[in-house]
Amino acid sequence: MNDQKPILLSGIKPTGDLHIGNYFGAMKQQVDLFKSGEYQCFIMIADYHALNTMQDAKGMRERTLELAAAYIAVGLDPEQLVLFKQSDVPAHTELAWIFDTITTMPYLMRAHAFKDAEAKSKEISVGTFNYPMLMAADILLYDTAIVPVGQDQKQHIEYARDTAEKFNRIFATESGDTFTLPKEHIMPDVAVVPGTDGQKMSKSYGNVIPLFASRDTIVEKVMSIVTDSSGERPENVYAIHKLLKSEAELAPLYEEHKGKYKALKDALVEDLETFIAPMRERYEALMQNPNEIMAILEKGGQQARKASEAKMEAVHKAIGVR
Ligand code: ADP
Ligand code: TRP
Repeated sequence: MNDQKPILLSGIKPTGDLHIGNYFGAMKQQVDLFKSGEYQCFIMIADYHALNTMQDAKGMRERTLELAAAYIAVGLDPEQLVLFKQSDVPAHTELAWIFDTITTMPYLMRAHAFKDAEAKSKEISVGTFNYPMLMAADILLYDTAIVPVGQDQKQHIEYARDTAEKFNRIFATESGDTFTLPKEHIMPDVAVVPGTDGQKMSKSYGNVIPLFASRDTIVEKVMSIVTDSSGERPENVYAIHKLLKSEAELAPLYEEHKGKYKALKDALVEDLETFIAPMRERYEALMQNPNEIMAILEKGGQQARKASEAKMEAVHKAIGVR
Protein backbone atom coordinates (compact mmCIF):
# COMPACT_ATOMS: atom_id res chain seq x y z
CA MET A 1 0.00 0.00 0.00
CA ASN A 2 1.22 3.46 -0.88
CA ASP A 3 1.33 5.59 2.24
CA GLN A 4 1.55 8.83 0.25
CA LYS A 5 -1.98 8.60 -1.05
CA PRO A 6 -4.79 10.45 0.73
CA ILE A 7 -6.96 8.24 2.88
CA LEU A 8 -10.49 7.38 1.92
CA LEU A 9 -12.76 5.80 4.50
CA SER A 10 -16.33 4.70 4.19
CA GLY A 11 -18.64 2.72 6.40
CA ILE A 12 -21.46 0.46 5.36
CA LYS A 13 -24.06 -0.96 7.69
CA PRO A 14 -24.72 -4.69 7.30
CA THR A 15 -28.36 -4.36 6.35
CA GLY A 16 -28.46 -7.36 4.00
CA ASP A 17 -30.74 -8.28 1.11
CA LEU A 18 -28.92 -6.24 -1.51
CA HIS A 19 -30.73 -5.48 -4.73
CA ILE A 20 -29.78 -3.92 -8.05
CA GLY A 21 -31.10 -0.54 -6.81
CA ASN A 22 -28.43 -0.59 -4.08
CA TYR A 23 -25.81 -1.53 -6.65
CA PHE A 24 -26.57 1.21 -9.17
CA GLY A 25 -27.50 3.76 -6.50
CA ALA A 26 -24.48 3.36 -4.24
CA MET A 27 -22.18 0.32 -4.47
CA LYS A 28 -21.02 0.89 -8.03
CA GLN A 29 -19.98 4.47 -7.36
CA GLN A 30 -18.12 3.43 -4.23
CA VAL A 31 -16.29 0.61 -5.96
CA ASP A 32 -15.36 2.91 -8.88
CA LEU A 33 -13.78 5.35 -6.42
CA PHE A 34 -11.85 2.58 -4.70
CA LYS A 35 -10.69 1.28 -8.06
CA SER A 36 -9.50 4.71 -9.22
CA GLY A 37 -6.24 3.96 -7.39
CA GLU A 38 -6.05 7.52 -6.10
CA TYR A 39 -6.64 6.69 -2.46
CA GLN A 40 -5.54 4.42 0.30
CA CYS A 41 -8.89 2.91 1.26
CA PHE A 42 -10.43 1.77 4.51
CA ILE A 43 -13.82 0.13 4.09
CA MET A 44 -15.56 -0.57 7.34
CA ILE A 45 -18.54 -2.72 8.10
CA ALA A 46 -20.36 -0.55 10.63
CA ASP A 47 -21.66 -3.35 12.84
CA TYR A 48 -21.78 -1.25 16.02
CA HIS A 49 -23.87 1.34 14.21
CA ALA A 50 -26.16 -1.43 12.95
CA LEU A 51 -26.56 -2.70 16.52
CA ASN A 52 -28.97 0.17 17.13
CA THR A 53 -31.52 -1.54 14.91
CA MET A 54 -30.32 -5.12 14.50
CA GLN A 55 -30.28 -6.88 17.84
CA ASP A 56 -30.10 -10.47 16.71
CA ALA A 57 -26.78 -12.31 16.89
CA LYS A 58 -27.48 -14.74 14.06
CA GLY A 59 -28.67 -11.94 11.77
CA MET A 60 -25.62 -9.85 12.62
CA ARG A 61 -23.21 -12.70 11.78
CA GLU A 62 -24.94 -13.60 8.54
CA ARG A 63 -25.35 -10.07 7.30
CA THR A 64 -21.77 -9.16 8.08
CA LEU A 65 -20.49 -12.10 6.04
CA GLU A 66 -22.94 -11.37 3.23
CA LEU A 67 -21.97 -7.72 3.04
CA ALA A 68 -18.24 -8.47 2.98
CA ALA A 69 -18.77 -11.13 0.28
CA ALA A 70 -21.03 -8.81 -1.71
CA TYR A 71 -18.51 -5.98 -1.81
CA ILE A 72 -15.71 -8.33 -2.80
CA ALA A 73 -17.95 -9.88 -5.46
CA VAL A 74 -18.80 -6.53 -7.03
CA GLY A 75 -15.17 -5.50 -7.25
CA LEU A 76 -13.48 -4.53 -3.97
CA ASP A 77 -10.09 -6.18 -3.84
CA PRO A 78 -9.25 -6.92 -0.20
CA GLU A 79 -5.56 -7.15 -1.15
CA GLN A 80 -5.60 -3.50 -2.20
CA LEU A 81 -7.51 -1.99 0.70
CA VAL A 82 -8.35 -2.51 4.35
CA LEU A 83 -11.74 -4.21 4.70
CA PHE A 84 -12.65 -4.51 8.36
CA LYS A 85 -15.35 -4.65 11.00
CA GLN A 86 -15.84 -1.67 13.28
CA SER A 87 -16.19 -3.98 16.30
CA ASP A 88 -12.70 -5.40 15.67
CA VAL A 89 -11.15 -2.04 16.52
CA PRO A 90 -11.93 -1.04 20.13
CA ALA A 91 -10.54 2.46 19.56
CA HIS A 92 -13.75 3.43 17.73
CA THR A 93 -15.93 3.18 20.82
CA GLU A 94 -13.19 4.50 23.08
CA LEU A 95 -12.73 7.61 20.97
CA ALA A 96 -16.50 8.07 20.69
CA TRP A 97 -16.58 8.31 24.50
CA ILE A 98 -13.84 10.92 24.54
CA PHE A 99 -15.78 12.93 21.94
CA ASP A 100 -18.94 12.61 24.07
CA THR A 101 -17.20 14.51 26.82
CA ILE A 102 -16.56 17.55 24.61
CA THR A 103 -19.97 17.46 22.88
CA THR A 104 -23.20 19.00 24.11
CA MET A 105 -26.67 17.49 24.02
CA PRO A 106 -28.23 20.46 22.16
CA TYR A 107 -25.62 20.06 19.43
CA LEU A 108 -26.48 16.38 18.92
CA MET A 109 -30.20 17.17 19.10
CA ARG A 110 -29.83 19.27 15.97
CA ALA A 111 -28.89 16.19 13.88
CA HIS A 112 -31.41 15.40 11.12
CA ALA A 113 -31.20 11.69 11.82
CA PHE A 114 -32.00 12.29 15.49
CA LYS A 115 -34.93 14.56 14.64
CA ASP A 116 -36.30 11.99 12.17
CA ALA A 117 -35.96 9.21 14.75
CA GLU A 118 -37.64 11.39 17.37
CA ALA A 119 -40.51 12.20 15.03
CA LYS A 120 -41.16 8.46 14.70
CA SER A 121 -40.76 7.54 18.36
CA LYS A 122 -39.80 9.31 21.56
CA GLU A 123 -38.03 6.23 22.93
CA ILE A 124 -34.75 6.72 21.12
CA SER A 125 -31.76 4.68 22.25
CA VAL A 126 -28.70 6.48 23.57
CA GLY A 127 -26.81 4.73 20.76
CA THR A 128 -29.01 6.36 18.14
CA PHE A 129 -28.59 9.74 19.79
CA ASN A 130 -24.86 9.26 19.93
CA TYR A 131 -24.53 7.86 16.41
CA PRO A 132 -22.68 10.92 15.04
CA MET A 133 -19.93 10.66 17.66
CA LEU A 134 -19.18 7.02 16.84
CA MET A 135 -19.14 7.97 13.18
CA ALA A 136 -16.80 10.90 13.91
CA ALA A 137 -14.47 8.45 15.66
CA ASP A 138 -14.62 6.06 12.65
CA ILE A 139 -13.49 8.84 10.38
CA LEU A 140 -10.99 10.73 12.54
CA LEU A 141 -9.03 7.71 13.76
CA TYR A 142 -7.42 7.20 10.37
CA ASP A 143 -6.53 10.77 9.29
CA THR A 144 -9.20 10.37 6.65
CA ALA A 145 -9.13 12.92 3.84
CA ILE A 146 -12.34 11.97 2.05
CA VAL A 147 -15.51 10.14 2.97
CA PRO A 148 -17.68 9.06 0.05
CA VAL A 149 -21.31 8.97 1.14
CA GLY A 150 -24.80 9.73 -0.08
CA GLN A 151 -26.36 13.14 0.45
CA ASP A 152 -28.20 11.88 3.55
CA GLN A 153 -24.87 11.46 5.37
CA LYS A 154 -23.51 14.95 4.69
CA GLN A 155 -24.38 16.29 8.12
CA HIS A 156 -22.57 13.40 9.80
CA ILE A 157 -19.34 14.40 8.09
CA GLU A 158 -19.86 17.99 9.22
CA TYR A 159 -20.21 16.68 12.77
CA ALA A 160 -16.93 14.80 12.38
CA ARG A 161 -15.20 17.91 11.08
CA ASP A 162 -16.58 20.13 13.88
CA THR A 163 -15.56 17.56 16.45
CA ALA A 164 -12.01 17.38 15.08
CA GLU A 165 -11.74 21.17 15.25
CA LYS A 166 -13.12 21.27 18.76
CA PHE A 167 -10.76 18.57 20.00
CA ASN A 168 -7.76 20.23 18.33
CA ARG A 169 -8.69 23.52 19.98
CA ILE A 170 -9.41 22.20 23.49
CA PHE A 171 -6.44 19.84 23.55
CA ALA A 172 -3.90 21.88 21.64
CA THR A 173 -0.48 20.24 21.78
CA GLU A 174 3.01 21.41 20.98
CA SER A 175 3.24 18.89 18.18
CA GLY A 176 0.23 20.38 16.42
CA ASP A 177 -3.29 19.20 15.65
CA THR A 178 -4.23 15.67 16.67
CA PHE A 179 -6.91 15.27 14.00
CA THR A 180 -7.02 15.96 10.29
CA LEU A 181 -10.22 17.62 9.05
CA PRO A 182 -12.09 15.26 6.73
CA LYS A 183 -14.07 16.25 3.64
CA GLU A 184 -17.21 14.62 2.39
CA HIS A 185 -17.35 13.32 -1.14
CA ILE A 186 -21.04 13.36 -1.98
CA MET A 187 -21.71 10.77 -4.58
CA PRO A 188 -23.81 12.26 -7.35
CA ASP A 189 -27.43 11.25 -7.06
CA VAL A 190 -28.10 8.42 -9.40
CA ALA A 191 -31.62 8.29 -10.78
CA VAL A 192 -33.86 6.21 -8.57
CA VAL A 193 -33.96 2.63 -9.78
CA PRO A 194 -37.58 1.53 -10.07
CA GLY A 195 -38.74 -1.85 -8.82
CA THR A 196 -40.91 -4.43 -10.56
CA ASP A 197 -44.02 -2.39 -9.69
CA GLY A 198 -42.61 0.92 -10.92
CA GLN A 199 -42.17 2.39 -7.41
CA LYS A 200 -38.66 2.96 -6.03
CA MET A 201 -36.94 -0.41 -5.72
CA SER A 202 -36.72 -1.09 -2.00
CA LYS A 203 -36.54 -4.13 0.22
CA SER A 204 -39.44 -2.69 2.20
CA TYR A 205 -41.73 -2.72 -0.87
CA GLY A 206 -41.07 -6.32 -1.96
CA ASN A 207 -40.40 -5.17 -5.52
CA VAL A 208 -36.69 -5.89 -5.82
CA ILE A 209 -34.45 -7.78 -8.19
CA PRO A 210 -31.84 -9.26 -5.84
CA LEU A 211 -28.26 -8.36 -6.75
CA PHE A 212 -27.17 -12.00 -6.84
CA ALA A 213 -30.45 -13.45 -8.14
CA SER A 214 -30.41 -16.93 -9.68
CA ARG A 215 -31.53 -17.20 -13.28
CA ASP A 216 -34.89 -18.56 -12.12
CA THR A 217 -35.39 -15.61 -9.82
CA ILE A 218 -34.45 -13.20 -12.59
CA VAL A 219 -37.06 -14.80 -14.85
CA GLU A 220 -39.69 -14.72 -12.12
CA LYS A 221 -38.99 -11.08 -11.19
CA VAL A 222 -38.85 -9.83 -14.75
CA MET A 223 -42.07 -11.61 -15.68
CA SER A 224 -43.72 -9.92 -12.69
CA ILE A 225 -42.77 -6.42 -13.87
CA VAL A 226 -45.98 -4.45 -14.11
CA THR A 227 -46.68 -3.28 -17.66
CA ASP A 228 -49.61 -1.29 -18.85
CA SER A 229 -51.03 -1.37 -22.32
CA SER A 230 -51.19 2.38 -22.85
CA GLY A 231 -47.94 2.79 -24.83
CA GLU A 232 -45.74 0.86 -27.19
CA ARG A 233 -42.88 0.75 -24.74
CA PRO A 234 -43.25 -0.97 -21.34
CA GLU A 235 -41.71 1.80 -19.23
CA ASN A 236 -40.98 -0.31 -16.16
CA VAL A 237 -39.08 -2.84 -18.28
CA TYR A 238 -37.23 -0.10 -20.14
CA ALA A 239 -36.18 1.73 -16.96
CA ILE A 240 -34.37 -1.35 -15.67
CA HIS A 241 -32.99 -2.22 -19.10
CA LYS A 242 -31.46 1.26 -19.36
CA LEU A 243 -29.17 0.48 -16.43
CA LEU A 244 -27.55 -2.30 -18.42
CA LYS A 245 -27.41 -0.91 -21.94
CA SER A 246 -27.28 2.53 -23.52
CA GLU A 247 -30.39 4.08 -25.01
CA ALA A 248 -28.74 3.84 -28.44
CA GLU A 249 -28.24 0.10 -27.99
CA LEU A 250 -31.80 -0.38 -26.82
CA ALA A 251 -33.50 1.72 -29.51
CA PRO A 252 -33.47 -0.93 -32.30
CA LEU A 253 -34.61 -3.67 -29.91
CA TYR A 254 -37.55 -1.65 -28.62
CA GLU A 255 -38.40 -0.58 -32.18
CA GLU A 256 -38.37 -4.19 -33.43
CA HIS A 257 -40.53 -5.42 -30.56
CA LYS A 258 -42.88 -2.48 -30.31
CA GLY A 259 -45.87 -3.49 -28.22
CA LYS A 260 -44.50 -7.05 -27.73
CA TYR A 261 -43.86 -7.00 -24.03
CA LYS A 262 -42.96 -10.68 -23.71
CA ALA A 263 -40.10 -10.42 -26.21
CA LEU A 264 -38.76 -7.33 -24.44
CA LYS A 265 -38.95 -9.04 -21.07
CA ASP A 266 -37.09 -12.04 -22.49
CA ALA A 267 -34.35 -9.70 -23.73
CA LEU A 268 -34.15 -8.06 -20.29
CA VAL A 269 -33.81 -11.49 -18.64
CA GLU A 270 -30.81 -12.25 -20.86
CA ASP A 271 -29.15 -8.92 -20.19
CA LEU A 272 -29.70 -9.20 -16.44
CA GLU A 273 -28.31 -12.72 -16.45
CA THR A 274 -25.21 -11.55 -18.36
CA PHE A 275 -24.71 -8.75 -15.86
CA ILE A 276 -25.45 -10.69 -12.67
CA ALA A 277 -23.94 -14.13 -13.42
CA PRO A 278 -20.22 -13.33 -12.95
CA MET A 279 -20.88 -11.42 -9.70
CA ARG A 280 -23.22 -14.17 -8.49
CA GLU A 281 -20.57 -16.80 -9.13
CA ARG A 282 -17.98 -14.87 -7.17
CA TYR A 283 -20.47 -14.23 -4.37
CA GLU A 284 -21.53 -17.85 -4.13
CA ALA A 285 -17.95 -19.10 -4.17
CA LEU A 286 -17.12 -16.75 -1.31
CA MET A 287 -20.21 -17.73 0.67
CA GLN A 288 -19.15 -21.38 0.33
CA ASN A 289 -16.06 -20.40 2.24
CA PRO A 290 -17.08 -18.28 5.21
CA ASN A 291 -13.69 -18.95 6.80
CA GLU A 292 -11.98 -17.17 3.95
CA ILE A 293 -14.21 -14.11 4.39
CA MET A 294 -13.58 -14.15 8.12
CA ALA A 295 -9.84 -14.37 7.51
CA ILE A 296 -10.04 -11.32 5.22
CA LEU A 297 -11.94 -9.37 7.89
CA GLU A 298 -9.53 -10.55 10.57
CA LYS A 299 -6.54 -9.33 8.59
CA GLY A 300 -8.25 -6.02 7.84
CA GLY A 301 -9.04 -5.70 11.55
CA GLN A 302 -5.38 -6.12 12.43
CA GLN A 303 -4.32 -3.46 9.93
CA ALA A 304 -6.99 -1.04 11.13
CA ARG A 305 -6.12 -1.71 14.78
CA LYS A 306 -2.51 -0.93 14.12
CA ALA A 307 -3.38 2.37 12.44
CA SER A 308 -5.81 3.25 15.22
CA GLU A 309 -3.35 2.50 18.03
CA ALA A 310 -0.88 5.08 16.79
CA LYS A 311 -3.64 7.69 16.70
CA MET A 312 -4.93 6.74 20.15
CA GLU A 313 -1.47 7.21 21.60
CA ALA A 314 -1.53 10.81 20.41
CA VAL A 315 -5.07 11.22 21.79
CA HIS A 316 -4.12 9.81 25.19
CA LYS A 317 -1.20 12.19 25.40
CA ALA A 318 -3.26 15.15 24.26
CA ILE A 319 -5.95 14.63 26.90
CA GLY A 320 -3.43 13.84 29.63
CA VAL A 321 -4.28 10.27 30.58
CA ARG A 322 -0.73 9.24 29.68
P1 ADP B 1 -33.66 -0.11 0.75
O1 ADP B 1 -34.51 1.04 0.24
O2 ADP B 1 -33.83 -1.33 -0.09
O3 ADP B 1 -33.85 -0.35 2.22
P2 ADP B 1 -31.21 1.12 1.61
O4 ADP B 1 -31.98 2.24 2.24
O5 ADP B 1 -30.55 0.13 2.50
O6 ADP B 1 -32.17 0.37 0.56
O7 ADP B 1 -30.17 1.79 0.63
C1 ADP B 1 -28.78 1.58 0.63
C2 ADP B 1 -28.17 2.45 -0.46
O8 ADP B 1 -28.68 2.08 -1.75
C3 ADP B 1 -28.47 3.93 -0.30
O9 ADP B 1 -27.28 4.65 -0.57
C4 ADP B 1 -29.51 4.23 -1.34
O10 ADP B 1 -29.37 5.54 -1.86
C5 ADP B 1 -29.26 3.20 -2.43
N1 ADP B 1 -30.54 2.78 -3.02
C6 ADP B 1 -31.48 1.99 -2.44
N2 ADP B 1 -32.54 1.79 -3.25
C7 ADP B 1 -32.28 2.49 -4.38
C8 ADP B 1 -32.99 2.70 -5.62
N3 ADP B 1 -34.19 2.13 -5.85
N4 ADP B 1 -32.42 3.47 -6.55
C9 ADP B 1 -31.20 4.06 -6.34
N5 ADP B 1 -30.48 3.90 -5.21
C10 ADP B 1 -30.99 3.13 -4.24
N1 TRP C 1 -23.85 6.23 8.77
C1 TRP C 1 -23.45 5.61 7.52
C2 TRP C 1 -24.73 5.15 6.76
O1 TRP C 1 -25.76 4.98 7.35
C3 TRP C 1 -22.59 4.41 7.76
C4 TRP C 1 -21.27 4.78 8.40
C5 TRP C 1 -20.84 4.48 9.66
C6 TRP C 1 -20.23 5.55 7.79
N2 TRP C 1 -19.61 4.98 9.87
C7 TRP C 1 -19.19 5.64 8.77
C8 TRP C 1 -20.08 6.13 6.54
C9 TRP C 1 -18.02 6.34 8.50
C10 TRP C 1 -18.89 6.84 6.27
C11 TRP C 1 -17.88 6.93 7.25
O2 TRP C 1 -24.65 4.97 5.56
